[in-house]
Amino acid sequence: MRKEAVRYLRCPHCSGAMAMTDGTLRCPLGHSFDVAKQGYVNLLPAAARFSADTAAMVAARADFLAAGHYAPIAEALATLARATAPAPTGGDPGCVVDIGGGTGYHHARVMAEFPGHEGILLDISKFAARRAARAHPRISAVVADAWDGLPIADGAASVVLNVFAPRNPAELRRILRPEGVLLVVTPRPDHLRELVEALGLLRVDEQKDERLADRFSAYFTEVARERSRNTMALDHKAVPRLVGMGPNAWHQHGERLEERIASLPEPCEVTVSITLTAYRPLV
Ligand SMILES: C[S@@+](CC[C@H](N)C(=O)[O-])C[C@H]1O[C@@H](n2cnc3c(N)ncnc32)[C@H](O)[C@@H]1O
Ligand SMILES: [Zn+2]
Repeated sequence: MRKEAVRYLRCPHCSGAMAMTDGTLRCPLGHSFDVAKQGYVNLLPAAARFSADTAAMVAARADFLAAGHYAPIAEALATLARATAPAPTGGDPGCVVDIGGGTGYHHARVMAEFPGHEGILLDISKFAARRAARAHPRISAVVADAWDGLPIADGAASVVLNVFAPRNPAELRRILRPEGVLLVVTPRPDHLRELVEALGLLRVDEQKDERLADRFSAYFTEVARERSRNTMALDHKAVPRLVGMGPNAWHQHGERLEERIASLPEPCEVTVSITLTAYRPLV
């Protein structure tokens, strides 16, 4: 947890401003939160209501991403963030927030474009937060629930990222400054098509883009939309990581999955198909 990032945080109980002394964050009402020895801080007001990603899921994600299979997504995000972020005015530049940021892979790439900004990554999994705390020198990692009130001040963020993760549009709007930008990556129906068919993975909802647009229209206006489709060549080690790092981890079972993977060609060509959308807050 960087001391420069503390001004953007708010107490999850009372929304008070926070101060950090001796590795503890405190609000004026005395609610206090210790920074873990791994560098992240847990600002969940109560035990998580949702199943957080497990240590195994987070390790699978870290290994999969380290191989560079999703590097084109991180590049596209970084390029669009640089093109759409508010121009510096000389005052507080605002922070770059990643909601459900996982291991910090995409966030770290985007932070490279914003050398004067603090990054704050929120994730409900402490295993993800531990990794994210090490992902980039200017990323501060916080355990928080994206469905709940976010422990971030009104208008604190100049850029908000949301990549394959849950989102609550009212809260995203609240934390974004009026001239800020929200970048959202969602899978398209043909994302990972070959594995969905061969391994019986969960399917992406055909109406996902439309439903997202509906939920966002009260808070945001869309300013850019990019669709990208490419293929990645996966070996038999990468496939179980990809399956194990997402929601399929809760539904797939060991031996049967191993058998099915063994019968895939190697390398296996798999489609990556996503929508990247940029939104400005409605004022
Ligand atoms: C599919 S992963 C994407 C991670 C990261 N954005 C990336 O693309 O590498 C979804 C992430 O959302 C987190 N998550 C799930 N439910 C959440 C919630 N209610 N609040 C915050 N994070 C959540 C998970 O722990 C996981 O790290
Ligand atoms: Zn408080």
